[in-house]
Amino acid sequence: AQTLTLLGIESSCDDTAAAVIRQTEGQTAQILSNEVFGQTELHADFGGVVPEIAARAHAEKLDLMVEVALQNAQLSLSEIDAIAVTAGPGLIGGVMSGVMCAKGLAAGSNTPLIGVNHLAGHALTPRLTDALEFPYLMLLVSGGHCQFLIAHSVMRFERLGGTIDDAPGEAFDKVAKLIGLPQPGGPSIERAAKMGDPTAHRLPRPLLDREGCDMSFSGLKTAVLRARDALVASQGGLHEADQNDLAASFQAAVTDVLVEKTRRAIEAYLSHDPPTPAIAVAGGVAANTQLRAGLASLADAQGVAFTAPPLKLCTDNAAMIAWAGLERFRLGHRDDLTLTARPRWPL
Ligand code: KG4
Ligand code: ZN
Repeated sequence: AQTLTLLGIESSCDDTAAAVIRQTEGQTAQILSNEVFGQTELHADFGGVVPEIAARAHAEKLDLMVEVALQNAQLSLSEIDAIAVTAGPGLIGGVMSGVMCAKGLAAGSNTPLIGVNHLAGHALTPRLTDALEFPYLMLLVSGGHCQFLIAHSVMRFERLGGTIDDAPGEAFDKVAKLIGLPQPGGPSIERAAKMGDPTAHRLPRPLLDREGCDMSFSGLKTAVLRARDALVASQGGLHEADQNDLAASFQAAVTDVLVEKTRRAIEAYLSHDPPTPAIAVAGGVAANTQLRAGLASLADAQGVAFTAPPLKLCTDNAAMIAWAGLERFRLGHRDDLTLTARPRWPL
C-alpha cells in the first residue's frame, strides 16, 4: 500500500491555512498539522470581508503558515509528495496569493502541484474524518454556499438543489450585524440563542411551500430586520434579552428550513437506490449544534447514516484541501505551473 504525504494550502476567503496530511492506501488518514490564521479582526470594522485587505493579509501570512505546518508535522518540503492548493472558487486576490505560493514551492522543490476546488474540499471532508464510502448525500452549508449534492466519486458531484439567494452563513453574519452581535455571526448567534426563546418571534420558513430542495434565506434576514425595528421603535433600543430572542428565533427558522429541505433531498437521493444510504454535512454552518442535532435525528428517523466532521474541519481549513488533493493525486491527477486561480468554479 502506498503512503502519501500532502501539503495543503487554503486562502479563498478570510482564513490563511496550511496543513499536512498523510494516508496509507486503505487506512484512515492522519492530520499531521492543521494551521489556520483567521482574519476576522482585520475586517471587523467593515462589517464583512474586504477583498483587498484579505488578499494582502494572505500574501503576508502564507509563507509563515506553510512553515509552521511543516514544522508541526516535523517534515521538510522534500518529504512532501504533492502540494494541493485551493484554486477557486473564492475571492480572486486571496486565491491568487495561495496559488502563487504553491507554485513557488512546487517549482522550487520539484514537487507535483494539484489545484483543488474549495467546495470539493468541504464535500470530501467526511472521507477524511470518517472514511465515508461513495455515494453519499452532502449538505454543504457555509458563508458563501448552500447546496445539496450527491457525491458519486472524487470527480463527480450531482447537484439536487440549493439557495436561490443568500447562503445561510451569510444570513447568520448579516443578522448578527443587524442585532448588534459580533462577527462571525454563526458562533455569536448560536451563543445568544442558547439564552433566548425560539418562539419569541414568528419568522417565515421561506420556500417550504415549494417542492424540491431549493432554499432562500434573504427574506428571513429582512424579517429579522423588521422585528428589530419594531422593538427599537417601541422601546428605543435592543436589550440583551431581545438579542437573545431574535437570535434564537432566527436560528430556529434556519434549522427548520435546512432540516425540512434535507428530508426532501434524502427522498430524492434514496430514489437513486444507494447501497448504504448516508448523509454528511460540511461547511462552516455545519458547526452549528442545533443544526447538527436536527439533521442527526432526521437521519435516524429515515434510517440513513449521519456524519458531521469535527468543528475545526467544518470551517475553512487546509487539511480538507490536502485531502481532496490526495484523493485526486491517487487517481493520477496533476497540474502544472499554468494552474490559474478561478473566482467562479462550480462543482
Ligand atoms: O466554510 P466557512 O468557514 O467559509 C466559507 O467557505 O464560507 O464558513 C463560514 C461561515 C460564516 O458565515 C460563519 O458565520 C458560519 O460559517 N458559521 C456558523 C457557525 N460557525 C461558523 N454558522 C452557524 N453556526 C455556527 N456555529
Ligand atoms: Zn468554505
